[in-house]
Amino acid sequence: MDSADTYWADRALLEWQVELGADEAIQDTPVDRYALDAAKPKPVEKKADDAPPPIPKPVVADPVVLAQKAAAAANDLTQLAAAMQAFDQCDLKRGAKNFVFADGQAAARVMIVGEAPGRQEDIAGKPFVGQAGQLLDKMLAAIGLDRGAADPAEAVYISNVLPWRPPANRTPDAEEIAMMLPFLERHVALANPDLLILMGNTPCQAVLGRAGITRIRGQWTEVLGRPAIPMFHPAYLLRQPAAKREAWADLLSIKARLRDTK
Ligand code: URA
Repeated sequence: MDSADTYWADRALLEWQVELGADEAIQDTPVDRYALDAAKPKPVEKKADDAPPPIPKPVVADPVVLAQKAAAAANDLTQLAAAMQAFDQCDLKRGAKNFVFADGQAAARVMIVGEAPGRQEDIAGKPFVGQAGQLLDKMLAAIGLDRGAADPAEAVYISNVLPWRPPANRTPDAEEIAMMLPFLERHVALANPDLLILMGNTPCQAVLGRAGITRIRGQWTEVLGRPAIPMFHPAYLLRQPAAKREAWADLLSIKARLRDTK
């Protein structure tokens, strides 16, 4: 076969292979594709250290925990009042004209806990100075007690669950009560009265964990380490004068308790 014949024979062979589907020229020596894959650089795995630092979540302080810490750090009533005034977690503070801490004689045997300042109290910066407060003074006078008395046996000490007036005198909500409760507890511990009068549902809810003043009024209970009696709030008595009868019974019960525990 001369070279022209070889050419045509090779070409016919090639065309036949292309027809069979061989469309890739093969090298003289075989290529081990698996070996090639193994030699390929592996993608670099990210180590934990290379990962971007997680975005820190904002730390939201629990107002109740903050209040507990601030209250526990107060060693006397002056420090407690300052700690409460500096407490920024309760929004009521921003709407109130004044901080209302307490009135009367801190050494008194009787401590009265009301709800929160009303309009007059917000203006005066003192608890129970409005109409309800004037009725309270008359009720106390009827059993020989007076917030102005120097003798602790005849005096009373008066405060509230909240030191700031809620807008339009609305009832304080559970969150407000919970965050101010550590201060009230410390207030009672530092004043150390012989007994507590809980005026209306809010202080009952705060320290006893239950309301329903119509059912629980007049029933002595033990709370914050001392006897306590729930009573109708004087503002309720102004609206429901018929309930003064029960209030009078409760006052007599307080008088008897003071006499018997002298
Ligand atoms: N009602 C309260 O409960 N407290 C006050 O100081 C005044 C009105």
